Amino acid sequence: MIASSPPKTFILKIKRSLGEGKPSHWESFEVPIRPSMNIISALQYVAANPVTTDGKNVEPVVWDAGCLEEVCGACTMVINGHVRQSCSCLVAENLQDGNTITLEPMSKFPVVRDLWVDRQRMFDNLKKIHGWVPIDGTHDLGAGPTETQEEQEQRYAYSRCMTCGCCLEACPQFTKDNDFKGAQVFAQIEYFNSHATGKELAAERLDVIMEPGGITDCGNSQNCVKVCPKELPLLDAIASLGRKTTVHAVKRFFSGKK
Ligand code: SF4
Ligand code: SF4
Ligand code: FES
Repeated sequence: MIASSPPKTFILKIKRSLGEGKPSHWESFEVPIRPSMNIISALQYVAANPVTTDGKNVEPVVWDAGCLEEVCGACTMVINGHVRQSCSCLVAENLQDGNTITLEPMSKFPVVRDLWVDRQRMFDNLKKIHGWVPIDGTHDLGAGPTETQEEQEQRYAYSRCMTCGCCLEACPQFTKDNDFKGAQVFAQIEYFNSHATGKELAAERLDVIMEPGGITDCGNSQNCVKVCPKELPLLDAIASLGRKTTVHAVKRFFSGKK
């Protein structure tokens, strides 16, 4: 039996548009396969050779990227129908029908152009929930509170979030025209509220997710946890915040606060 040799080129099929609300269309590019090639290097080839398979010269494709090592989340897109990072997606392992890969922008964020989306909503939500540890840096505060190894390890799991948006892309509750905060923000509330100093703002953070678009709007479909590339314990965060917001609501009621 003669072993079939791997293809020398593949077809990169890309959904293109000039921005949010503008019409979109598909263009295909033939790209030579190099060993260990990832999607970003294939896009770099297309940027240098913006000619479609039917011979048309087109504008170079636009995408976003930063770290190139699955840490910044900027290169997240929908590859062969699955949301993931394009820097860690290897061409050879993802060819469909032997020679094609499709790329689309995430659908839950406004498209800036082609594969580049605007993830600002996630960063705005981090501001709303006070996603920081409040310390006054103008004078010596002395040693901070100590934590056990176990506490550090629990919190570390949440620190891995790279604000990529995969969990929101997969979430049926998170849409472009609603206020649902989503698993990314829930996980960061759990992260900062379990920090010995960060918990000073715990009540303010819980207040934010007790508003419309908060934790009670989660439908518990669990899609988020299945697609998180950093394997954050998102369902633990959602369950924990469900309990904590209930206690917080009772405390608020008895303290007379609305
Ligand atoms: S459990 Fe479902 S509804 Fe809730 S945040 Fe995750 S994907 Fe969205
Ligand atoms: S929780 Fe996971 S999927 Fe969601 S933004 Fe953070 S790293 Fe990405
Ligand atoms: S470029 Fe940073 S995650 Fe891919």
